[in-house]
Amino acid sequence: MALRVNDSDARLSLDSRETLLDALRDQLGLQGTKKGCDQGACGACTVLLDGKRVLSCLTLAAQCDGREVTTVEGLAPDGDMHPVQEAFVRHDAFQCGYCTPGQIMSAVALLKEGRAGSDEEIREFMSGNLCRCAAYPNIVAAIRDVAGQEESHDAGL
Ligand code: FES
Ligand code: FES
Repeated sequence: MALRVNDSDARLSLDSRETLLDALRDQLGLQGTKKGCDQGACGACTVLLDGKRVLSCLTLAAQCDGREVTTVEGLAPDGDMHPVQEAFVRHDAFQCGYCTPGQIMSAVALLKEGRAGSDEEIREFMSGNLCRCAAYPNIVAAIRDVAGQEESHDAGL
């Protein structure tokens, strides 16, 4: 099968039962995407599939044939952090960091979805991403910060 991952083509030979998460981590060496629960409950494995967030532990790699996958590595291809990554650092939005790649991928998608209108909305649309370290207030603050920057930019400020 052929995948486009982070703007590069990848050809893989896979068991039809293999998940996208395992294909990314074990076959392509992209270990930024984390395996937490491996059953769709924690959000640590969130990636973008054709620009929309999916849980890669619940997505078969074979379903992604010919489609575009973006992982956390793809947000900073030249080493310059994505604005959401910068905001997470600025707001100290992590402790152990295990959930962070999934939080960041979900946050990138949420901003594109236009779901960052209020703290309540951010909390609701980030509710599939759990953080055992309970960094939630700082995660919300980081997302709100980027949403505010985008609004200022759109308003030409
Ligand atoms: Fe996929 Fe937890 S590892 S949701
Ligand atoms: Fe540790 Fe979220 S920062 S689980």
